[in-house]
Amino acid sequence: MLEGEEGDAVRKAMELLVALGEVFGAGRLTPVESAHISGVSYKNLGDAGTEWLEEQAELGSRTRVRATLNPAGMDMEKWAEMGVSPGFAKGQVRVIEAFKRMGVEPTCTCTPYLIGHVPRTGAQVAWAESNAVCFCNSVLGARTNRESGPTTLASAVTGLTPLYGYRLDENRRPGKIVQVATELETRLDYSALGYVTGKLLGNAVPYFRGLGRPDIESMKTLGAACATSGGVALWHGEGVTPEAGWAAGHLDGVEEVTVERGDLEEARDRLVCDPSNPTYCVGCPHCSLREMAETAELVKGRDLGGRLWVFTSRGVYGEAAKAGHVQAIEEAGGRVYRDTCMVVAPLREMGWEGVATNSFKGGHYSVAHGFETEITTLDRLVEGAAG
Ligand code: F3S
Repeated sequence: MLEGEEGDAVRKAMELLVALGEVFGAGRLTPVESAHISGVSYKNLGDAGTEWLEEQAELGSRTRVRATLNPAGMDMEKWAEMGVSPGFAKGQVRVIEAFKRMGVEPTCTCTPYLIGHVPRTGAQVAWAESNAVCFCNSVLGARTNRESGPTTLASAVTGLTPLYGYRLDENRRPGKIVQVATELETRLDYSALGYVTGKLLGNAVPYFRGLGRPDIESMKTLGAACATSGGVALWHGEGVTPEAGWAAGHLDGVEEVTVERGDLEEARDRLVCDPSNPTYCVGCPHCSLREMAETAELVKGRDLGGRLWVFTSRGVYGEAAKAGHVQAIEEAGGRVYRDTCMVVAPLREMGWEGVATNSFKGGHYSVAHGFETEITTLDRLVEGAAG
């Protein structure tokens, strides 16, 4: 491949992977079973990034393993309703078309694991997007580093990745024990715990004790938050995650930190304020079908006046529409969008002033982008949107 026997596109992809492997001291390459590719929003790619993708498609880049796509900057159908400009939409369509030409599934979601892209435990994959990486490593027990858009595409095209980092047992050992000394009652508590953990540990591997019995949604928000605040790519949960039993055998001499209720509250107080004109957002990471159902139930009989925005994948959207959840949210004056989210959409251009969210990851980026931000539970978001 490196010598160009399979064409220029494959040669370029392989050059990137070899360089990456050399930087990280990888001994060899290993096959990957799938890829999840980030760097999709035209907001971040601009014309230069879009042209680069088109060039790759033109050169003949084609995926040889299953590859799914992260969120774009807009709902690919309802973009005008979102307030996205025709110029932006044109650029975004070019991006998606380039990926499609290369054989990438235009899933446009950060939760591919909720729509059937579920690597098996122990599988080597090349995934990007911090929450997806964290879920993949921790909850599914598959193996990926925190890849980038170009490296995931290169792995999709070659079917290979350098063998280093979280792909090896030695780097999946716990870095610190996190003793949770409070009952985690809501999904927001799990999100806060993730955020506090990332701040405390950086990118060390947490081994949680006292997580209770988190559902899928709590685990996705926990991982999203600790990946954002600290760069965590893998966590173990005693009695919860598939490698926790193995990890428990590597706890000798591992330092312990304790997280209490006060730490969770302090994290929120430090991060946010009280925005005067927020848009209320649900769906970071993208909503599961259960979250769509819960939101639909909560908004019954309310008048949301277009202020509640719900983000999900097109896969979940289809199921939620069949079950009547999309219609229930829209009838109450909420909006439901696919393919995009509150972080990768061009919010300024869309006229947003402030953000209220039930996600520490979403809240973190909202603050970083200069928006007045509030973080609260789903039911309070619905109440807020209804005035
Ligand atoms: Fe997903 Fe966007 Fe949040 S990509 S994790 S919904 S910032």
